[in-house]
Amino acid sequence: MSGHTGGSTMSAYQKEYQWAANHPEEFWEAQAQHIDWFKKPSTLLATDENDIERWFPDGLLNTCWLALDYHCEQGRGDKVALIYDSPVTNRKQQYSYQQLRDQVARIAGMLANQGVTKGDRVVIYMPMIPEAAMAMLACARLGAIHSVVFGGFAANELAVRLEDAEPKVVLTASCGVEVNKVIPYKPLVDKAIMDSRWKPQQVVVLQRQECKSELNGERDVDWLSAYESASPHACVPVLSTDPLYILYTSGTTGKPKGVVRDNGGHAVAMKYSMTSIYNIPQDGVFWAASDVGWVVGHSYIVYAPLIHGCTTILFEGKPVRTPDPGAFWRVCQEYKVDVLFSAPTAFRAIKKEDPNGECLSQYDLSKLQTIFMAGERLDPPTLEWVETKTNKPVIDHWWQTETGWAIAGNPIGLEHMPIKAGSATKPMPGYQVEILNELGEPAQSNQQGFVALKRPLPPSCLPTVWRNHDRFESGYLGQFPGYYVSGDGGYIDDEGYLFIMGRIDDVINVAGHRLSTGEMEEIVGGHPAIAECAVVGVHDELKGQLPLGLVVLKDGVKVDDLELEGELVGKVRNEIGAVACFKHALVVERLPKTRSGKILRRTIRQIADGEQYVVPSTIDDPTSLAEIERVLKS
Ligand code: COA
Ligand code: AMP
Repeated sequence: MSGHTGGSTMSAYQKEYQWAANHPEEFWEAQAQHIDWFKKPSTLLATDENDIERWFPDGLLNTCWLALDYHCEQGRGDKVALIYDSPVTNRKQQYSYQQLRDQVARIAGMLANQGVTKGDRVVIYMPMIPEAAMAMLACARLGAIHSVVFGGFAANELAVRLEDAEPKVVLTASCGVEVNKVIPYKPLVDKAIMDSRWKPQQVVVLQRQECKSELNGERDVDWLSAYESASPHACVPVLSTDPLYILYTSGTTGKPKGVVRDNGGHAVAMKYSMTSIYNIPQDGVFWAASDVGWVVGHSYIVYAPLIHGCTTILFEGKPVRTPDPGAFWRVCQEYKVDVLFSAPTAFRAIKKEDPNGECLSQYDLSKLQTIFMAGERLDPPTLEWVETKTNKPVIDHWWQTETGWAIAGNPIGLEHMPIKAGSATKPMPGYQVEILNELGEPAQSNQQGFVALKRPLPPSCLPTVWRNHDRFESGYLGQFPGYYVSGDGGYIDDEGYLFIMGRIDDVINVAGHRLSTGEMEEIVGGHPAIAECAVVGVHDELKGQLPLGLVVLKDGVKVDDLELEGELVGKVRNEIGAVACFKHALVVERLPKTRSGKILRRTIRQIADGEQYVVPSTIDDPTSLAEIERVLKS
C-alpha cells in the first residue's frame, strides 16, 4: 500500500499528509488493512443518526483479539507482552502474550459470570498494576465498555462517574501505593457507591499485600476466588462503531465529560501511529510513563503497543523519589526501552533533582531511540535539557483525551522534520488543523486564534459524549459549523508549524493532569462563608500550572483567613483528590468583572504570573485590579 498524490518535490510527510487530506477514505482504507478484522468494512465513512461521521461502520472486530490472541495465532505467544516494574512495592513481573491472553480470557470469564455482556459498562478504579490493564482488555474481549477512573481521584469523582456510566460491575484493588504511603481504595469505593444514585451489582476487589480490604455483603466479591472459579471466555465480535471505552475528562463545569471511543477507528489509528509517529518495530519495547487512568495510559500503555505486538511497560512509580531521579533511566536500561513517552513535568522533576545529569550518566541508554512528550506544552528549557543530557531526539506532540492519538507531532516514521522549540510541529496525516478567529474566519500565519479541526475527524476521535450528545454538539461542534473546536488557542507559523499556547476555557493542566477550574469554583463556592470566587491556573516551574483561588466573603462573615484557606484546601482535596494540588485561597474584597458581570479570569491570571496586561475596556471597576495586585503581592 502506498500513498500516491503529488509530485516528486514533496517530502515523505507532505505526500502522506496530502494523501490523507485529498483521499481520506482511500488513505484510511489502506491503514485499515493492517489490522485483523473478523469482517472487513465495506463502507469506510458514513454519518450516524446524529449526523456525525463514523469510520468503518460495518466492520466487525475485537480489540482484545488484536492486542493478544492475534499475536499468539501468529506464533508470537512467547514474546514478552507486558513488563510490570514497581519500585514502590519492590515487585517486577513479566507476562508473555500467551500468559496475558490466558489471564485476560479468565478475567473476561469472571466478568461474564457476574452477568457482564456486550455493551454493559464496567468501572475500573485501580492502581498501576498488571490487573488494571488485564481488566481493560477483558472488557474489550466481552464487548463490554470500560471506564477507568484514575486512582488519584477522590470518592466524589468516582461517584459522579458511576452515576453517569451506570456500570454493572466495579473492579478495584484494596489499595494504591504512592511514595511512602498506602492509600486504601475500598473505603473510597464504598463512599462513592453510597453517594451515587447508581448502585453497581458487584464490586470485585483484588487484595494486595500492602493492605487488605474488608469485604461485606453480597455486593463485594474477592477477585482471586472469582477468578479461580472462572473459565476462559472467547472474544466477542463487535461493530467498529461499538464503544470500547468511556473516559471522563474535565470540561468547564463540575460534571466531567464521558469521551466515547469506538473499537474500529481506534484500533486502526493506534496501529498507524506506532509506525508513522513513533517509528517502533514490532519487536520494540515501548514505555509510556503515565497512568492507565489517563488517555496516554489507555492508548500507549495498553492498546497501541499490544496491537502493534511490542513489549509494553507498566511502571508503578514516579520519575523521582522511587528511589531517585535515575528511575526513568534505570527502567530504560533494564528493559532496553526503544521509545519513552511521558509528560514534560516528569522531566522537570528529574531536572530539578539531577540538574547536571549525574544520575542519568550512570545508565546505558544506547537502545533508547526517541523521547516523546505530551500532556502539556513542552517548554523550550525542558526540551533543551533533555536533548542535551540524553543526546536523543526529543519530540513534542499535541493531543487530547477526545482524539486518543496525536493531532500534531513530528512523525519520525515518515520523516524527521527539523524541530522548533515550543512547537508541536505539524498536523498528523488525517487531521486538518486550522486557526480561526472569533468569527470563524481563517487567521493569518502567526496570528493566534482558536485551534480547530476540520471535519471529518480521523479515526479514533470521539463521536459523542456519553449519553449527552447535546454537550458534544454545544461544547465542540456548534461554535464553528464544519469544525471541531479543540479548546486550545495557538497559531501556525509561515512554515506550517503549529504552536499550542494553552487552553482558552476553564481547563488547566497540573503536572500533566487535566483539571477543571470551573469544578474547583463550584466546590470552593459551596463553602458557607463564600459569596463568590474565581479559580485560575497560575504558572508553576515544576507542575506547569497550579490552581489559585480568590474568594469574596459573604457580608458580615468573620473568619480567620488561614483557617478558611485550610478548609477550602481540604474541601477540594476531599472532593476531587490530592492531584488537584489546590493549596492556596486568598480573600479579596471583590473580583474584577466586566460590566456584564463576567469575572476577568485571564487578567487575574496575568497579574498572578507577573505578566503585562491590558485593562479590559469592558471592566466595571478598574480599582478591583489594584486590589488583586496588592493581595497577590502581600
Ligand atoms: N493515587 C493516589 N494519590 C495520588 C495518585 C494516585 N494514583 N497520583 C498522585 N496522587 C497524589 C500524590 O500522592 C500527591 O499527594 P500529596 O499532596 O498528599 O503529596 C498528590 O496526588 C499530587 O501528586 P502529583 O501531582 O503526582 O505530585 P508529586 O509531587 O507527587 O509528583 C510529578 C510530581 C511531576 C513527579 C508527578 O506529577 C508526575 O510524574 N507527573 C507526570 C504525570 C503524567 O504522567 N501525566 C500523564 C500524561 S503523559
Ligand atoms: P488530556 O485530554 O488530559 O490529554 O489534555 C489535553 C490538553 O492538554 C490539550 O487540550 C492541551 O491543552 C494540553 N496538551 C496536551 N499535549 C500538549 C502539547 N504537546 N502541547 C501543548 N498542550 C498540550
